[in-house]
Amino acid sequence: MTLRIGDTAPDFTIDTTEGPIKFHDWAKGSWVFFFSHPADYTPVCTTEMGRTSQLAPEFEKRNVKPLGLSTDSVDAHKGWINDINETQNTVLEFPIVADKELEVAQKYDMIHPNESATATVRSVFIIDPNQKIRLIMTYPMTVGRNFNEILRVIDALQTTDREEVACPADWTPGDSVIIRPNVSDEDAKEKFPQGWKTVKPYLRLTDIKER
Ligand code: BEZ
Repeated sequence: MTLRIGDTAPDFTIDTTEGPIKFHDWAKGSWVFFFSHPADYTPVCTTEMGRTSQLAPEFEKRNVKPLGLSTDSVDAHKGWINDINETQNTVLEFPIVADKELEVAQKYDMIHPNESATATVRSVFIIDPNQKIRLIMTYPMTVGRNFNEILRVIDALQTTDREEVACPADWTPGDSVIIRPNVSDEDAKEKFPQGWKTVKPYLRLTDIKER
């Protein structure tokens, strides 16, 4: 199944390291960072799981629940978590889905057969509190994800929802934002009383208060 931005994140019920979850119930009211891994006890995945755990306060600040997935058993995951905690200097507390039958991996198109017939690639789904998919990224098995980018894009999505603006290249919180092209200058006067800079009629930059 091909999932696209704006689709409702498919629901599933499955065992995790924190007990069984029904995804939509578990996610209710939160953003979700859902990310897959090729396998337990592998080096890149160990660093990614560790980094996610170290960033727990950052995810919590943004009302984001991390949810990992790999296609091994709960027991294997639990043994691996001990290694993650030991080597990455953390205490991992978010759930990891045990998707032994590839049920969720298939629903979320996490198996890319020309990369591996059986292991999931490094998929990322950012899902909003309405359970809509807001971002999809896919990394190959040999390259770990950039967690600064994951936090940045969550900040950008939350900012664009809150302020009805858009974020330019390499935007980070505190930078100017873009007034959306569908907002007329007339309407912009009301929405952005602080004013803006017109670089081109279609490129108007304004500053907003950080939350
Ligand atoms: C890793 O997590 O280190 C890894 C997993 C599968 C293939 C290559 C690397």
